[in-house]
Amino acid sequence: MEAKQMTDVRVTKLLEKMTLDEKIDQLMQLAAFFYDGASSDGEITGPMEDLGISKQTIHNSGSVLGGSGAKEVISIQKEHLKTNRLGIPLLIMADIIHGFKTIFPVPLAIGSSWDVRLAEKSAEIAALEASVAGVHVTFAPMVDLVRDPRWGRVMETTGEDPFLNGEFAKAFVRGFQGENVTNDTNRVAACVKHFAAYGAPEGGRDYNTVNMSERDLRENYLPAYKAALDAGAQMVMTAFNTVDGIPASGNEKLMRELLRDEWGFDGVVISDWGAIKEMIPHGIAADESEAAKKGLKAGVDIEMMTSTYVKNLQTLVEQGGISEELINESVRRILQLKEKLGLFENPYRGANEQLEEELVFSEEHRQIACELATKSSVLLKNKHVLPLDREQKVALIGPFAHNGDVLGPWSWAGSRENAVKVDEGIKTKIDPVNLIVAQGCDIDTGTEEQVAKAVQAASTADVIVLALGERSEMSGEAGCRADIRLPQVQLDLIKEMKKLTKPIAIVLFNGRPLDLHGVLDQADAVLEAWYPGSEAGTAIADLLYGDVNPSGKLPMSFPYSVGQVPVYYNHYNTGRPDINKSPAERYVSKYLDIPNEPLLPFGFGLSYTTFQYSDTKISSDTLTSDSEITISTHITNTGNVAGEEVVQLYVRDMVGEVVRPIKELKGYEKVHLNPGEKKEVTFILTEEQLRYFHADLSFTSDPGKFTVFVGPNSVDGAELTFELIN
Ligand code: GLC
Repeated sequence: MEAKQMTDVRVTKLLEKMTLDEKIDQLMQLAAFFYDGASSDGEITGPMEDLGISKQTIHNSGSVLGGSGAKEVISIQKEHLKTNRLGIPLLIMADIIHGFKTIFPVPLAIGSSWDVRLAEKSAEIAALEASVAGVHVTFAPMVDLVRDPRWGRVMETTGEDPFLNGEFAKAFVRGFQGENVTNDTNRVAACVKHFAAYGAPEGGRDYNTVNMSERDLRENYLPAYKAALDAGAQMVMTAFNTVDGIPASGNEKLMRELLRDEWGFDGVVISDWGAIKEMIPHGIAADESEAAKKGLKAGVDIEMMTSTYVKNLQTLVEQGGISEELINESVRRILQLKEKLGLFENPYRGANEQLEEELVFSEEHRQIACELATKSSVLLKNKHVLPLDREQKVALIGPFAHNGDVLGPWSWAGSRENAVKVDEGIKTKIDPVNLIVAQGCDIDTGTEEQVAKAVQAASTADVIVLALGERSEMSGEAGCRADIRLPQVQLDLIKEMKKLTKPIAIVLFNGRPLDLHGVLDQADAVLEAWYPGSEAGTAIADLLYGDVNPSGKLPMSFPYSVGQVPVYYNHYNTGRPDINKSPAERYVSKYLDIPNEPLLPFGFGLSYTTFQYSDTKISSDTLTSDSEITISTHITNTGNVAGEEVVQLYVRDMVGEVVRPIKELKGYEKVHLNPGEKKEVTFILTEEQLRYFHADLSFTSDPGKFTVFVGPNSVDGAELTFELIN
């Protein structure tokens, strides 16, 4: 008998033995501290009473959020199997977003690497560390497309482009799950989130309303979720926000008609934390019973951290509000996932205290974290200051000069204490006598004494390195900012350092694109480090001293001002584009006080070397639905150090049935070139890549003219044209 059939038979038999009460309790997920055997001892009375649930409910429940390691998870599972009548094991789920204990750069940084191979490797390591610590499912990848840096969770995404987000979504799922998550207990099941369009809240304010056409949703926001599911992601998490006026967790059109019926997803859907009950404040459920009904009817199988299901579904079945079959459907999917992960044979899966001791935060893992951090940093400016010379006397100044807050939000078991700080990294490169460190100010407060000490330190140096940025709580969930500049005290510190007329390099630690006025214009060099993770100091020192040449490219535009937001490269042209940039020309789409263009565009990033593009060609000026076009270019390293360049291919559909973006990323290749080396890079373009959602939501291409752009970012590059013909 086929494994799938075996699964179904066993699941069906188990389902038949379960009482309605036991089935309903399988649909609840609580945090680890509620469970017997959890390391945080003692009766959890407050939250449990708030939830209005009994111990029996917990003994029947289906999954756990969290768990601090193999010892605790094994203990919880062991205790649970003693009290669960049918011996149904718990699923252990956790937010392993960019590392378990070895913390990799935040996903927005990983997106800056344009290196999906390393992204996959980081997810594989995260899965290995999490699995030996007892985790079965990770609430990742988060693939919400973003265009608004005021939103705190942009750090958790790979940016503003549907194609690039899709490439990373697939890479993360491959890394987490491997070829066969069933047989490989050192992998974890991936749960793609947050379905859908959580990254587009009005005003950039978390949990806020999302308003867009279905066409825009399908064109820009859904592709990365689909890519993750096509790569085999086992679960989906709902978003907090409304989608066309209905919260995702109760949105049948989104969660059933599209996700399950149209896309064919038959895996487990879990709500985000409390999102089922939040349908009451959203105003589409009058009470918990209605919220529970809407959630289950929408196909949300697991309710995270609220208890509307366990408190209301039995009554709803008895009163005919919902059918027991609807409950059976959800329980079946949960049992099938447990079966697929082998939990009935081995409820502890990969949990292993000894392996946890050996593998977690290993030197090998940290080396990969360092490599990814060096590739994720973006050189935004460099007027002959970087790389530093080891003989130079360096004044390292700023709140991030010696600061462990370099892991970023969602750093599960990561330790700031264990993170390599910037000064520690630099000390491995130079004679400590050539390094002087002063804080200069805190993140958003400071004293004259701090500034005086910094001025004193800097006055003795050949070069000033300012380590500045946001504390990680200033981004991440509910970390939204209306003012996206550096805190004023840091801008003031830059001005004080500027008075010393010495070379200044600024390294930024932040979770979002910032308004860099007062930073980019003041410094001679700026390196965007985002939150580099456990090996921050090592990676930054490698980059500052040129042991690694920066190669990152921005996956999200840096606005000229927050007044521009939302600002993104793949925008529409409008009927009055500001082509002439003439102050005299008033009646065009522009601001009176700032330019339309972002300060730094999508795809932008510099290097310590220079690259020259030449001989860009197109194989044909016509394309049909059964032909393909080759676009080729040559790139030469015209500098004197080796480096990597991300060659980018964009396409513009000149005339569509609906307006089309002025350009769309359709391909890229990151190439390594030694000094003087020249390489040819080629891209294949087919009609399929030119398809888009029409007004009637059909996904097709139109014959007509297209322009191709090949270059180092979304603004510069050679242009070529071709025509798609029937
Ligand atoms: C949070 C986040 C979600 C996370 C969940 C569990 O509210 O929105 O991304 O997976 O709760 O921690």
